Amino acid sequence: MKVVVVGATGTIGGAIVQLLKEKGHEVIEVSRSSQPSIDIAEPSTIDLFFDQVGEVDAIISAAGSAAFAPLDQLTEDDMQLSVTSKLLGQVNLVRRGLPKLRPNGVAIITGGFLAYKPAPQTSMIAMVNAGLEGFAKAAALDITEGRRVLVVHPPWVAETAVKLGMDASIWPDAAKTAEAYVAALEGTQNGEPIFVEGYNPVAS
Ligand SMILES: NC(=O)c1ccc[n+]([C@@H]2O[C@H](COP(=O)([O-])OP(=O)(O)OC[C@H]3O[C@@H](n4cnc5c(N)ncnc54)[C@H](OP(=O)(O)O)[C@@H]3O)[C@@H](O)[C@H]2O)c1
Repeated sequence: MKVVVVGATGTIGGAIVQLLKEKGHEVIEVSRSSQPSIDIAEPSTIDLFFDQVGEVDAIISAAGSAAFAPLDQLTEDDMQLSVTSKLLGQVNLVRRGLPKLRPNGVAIITGGFLAYKPAPQTSMIAMVNAGLEGFAKAAALDITEGRRVLVVHPPWVAETAVKLGMDASIWPDAAKTAEAYVAALEGTQNGEPIFVEGYNPVAS
């Protein structure tokens, strides 16, 4: 399959790229610093990118920022960033990528388990992740020609936990997290939230 991965240089995106290549997929690696680039917070860049790349079988996003701050310290800029980047950025990626998504293709975006198990200071992240889940569920009802829309909710990944000084031993690494994306790509689910195996916050 011809797969676009947005956020390809990131912790999760890089692992997705590696696994896709191991499985023989053709991967187009994208971020704000690639050529051609996408900045999901700038919708016109999505159109320009797809004009150059043409039709694809899958669009995977592991990109987008949301603010991490206590409720009483959230600024308007924090809220705007969260909505413009991680939420509407990925919504626009699906919406604007759709004309170039082949029949039976799939768009996979990234939320996060904080939608289900929020922690202090994560109100913006939890809001955006839950919003992305609602979007995917409803968009799946509109999408045609066998195409699918999914949201993956990763838990903390071990590499990020290390950077944040948290106990990394209880979290999957990026390679394990990438397996959830590739299974979703190769599977048949549509609209439903996808979790990393063993890290379903609904079940635990
Ligand atoms: N890491 C975790 O533990 C974890 C857990 C749950 C959910 N998530 C979610 O997973 C996603 C990826 O996380 P990560 O930790 O892998 O991120 P990361 O390591 O910081 O990498 C982010 C990637 O996205 C690209 N990017 C950032 N902003 C972009 C934009 N506006 N448009 C296009 N590309 C952009 C970056 O490249 P450029 O800078 O070149 O654009 C980079 O390739 C995020 O949405 C995050 O909220 C992460």
